[in-house]
Amino acid sequence: MHLITLKDWSEAEIRETVENCIKIKNHPEKYRHAASALSLSLLFQKTSTRTRCAGEIGILQLGGHALYLDWRTTNFGLADLGDEMHVLSDYVDIILARFLKHSDIQKAADAASVPVINGCCDRYHPTQAIGDLMTIKEHLGKLEGVKLCFIGIHNNVCNSLISAGMNVGLAVTVIAPEVNPAAVDEELWTQAEQKGYYKSIPTDTLDSNAELQEIIAENDVVYTDTWLDMEFFADPDFAEERERRMKLMMPYQLNPSLLKGIDCKIMHCLPAHRGYEIAGELLDDPRAVIFEQSENRLHSMKAIILKLLERS
Ligand code: CP
Ligand code: NVA
Repeated sequence: MHLITLKDWSEAEIRETVENCIKIKNHPEKYRHAASALSLSLLFQKTSTRTRCAGEIGILQLGGHALYLDWRTTNFGLADLGDEMHVLSDYVDIILARFLKHSDIQKAADAASVPVINGCCDRYHPTQAIGDLMTIKEHLGKLEGVKLCFIGIHNNVCNSLISAGMNVGLAVTVIAPEVNPAAVDEELWTQAEQKGYYKSIPTDTLDSNAELQEIIAENDVVYTDTWLDMEFFADPDFAEERERRMKLMMPYQLNPSLLKGIDCKIMHCLPAHRGYEIAGELLDDPRAVIFEQSENRLHSMKAIILKLLERS
């Protein structure tokens, strides 16, 4: 079993994993030997703070061993992806991989003989979504019936929230003037829409900030993420696109004025670009659960590892 898109995980599997995230957080001592002598390899093509730390520290806290591989210092780039995954599978018990392209993480999982966790590709970020469900459950006491509004560019994080949400009865409303081209997943959106757990509000129908505020106020959670994925943010080839997006997206920035008087949790997967998708002061707003989200990446990664190792 892998965790690549989350789309093939059942409702029961998602719910049970979220429950385990909370149990592990509350009683970490009980899990100190749960993955004793097992190895997790982290294979990363992109940068990371949270996902890498959650994987490395998570497996150590479970009694196992972490092996971090930066793609560029391995021979993955020289050889056939399938061959190298075959080899890595012979050394370790589980692999956490952050690849640029969704097609490559899928190929890698197909070639591996051990479980593979998608640590964020251009289409999905499933470990983030599991951690976020955990944070929502802790704060709101439930998942079913929760309403979440995602404002920003429709991206990998948004897709995984939709995918997770529709399985546990959490509805996602998206306010996004654009979709990242790599994140298009009509099949997911149609399925979630038909189940009644996803809707996208066309932004050209929004006449005023007041209307935007009304929509946000109908939700329990407001969530945003970067307007440009990490691999493009500092790339000089994307400087022009970056400027275009910043201009297009500024009316959708989460800031104290937009959220004035609205009683909802504020979420962001981090890293945040203060002053762009979110005003810096909102990270410390009493409604924000952003740093709890990032702490929960550790506890939830442990639950995901144990689930895939069949040790939960
Ligand atoms: N939220 C998240 O995945 O952060 P990193 O990119 O730092 O891992
Ligand atoms: N959408 C962001 C998520 C980072 C955790 C990105 O892919 O860069």
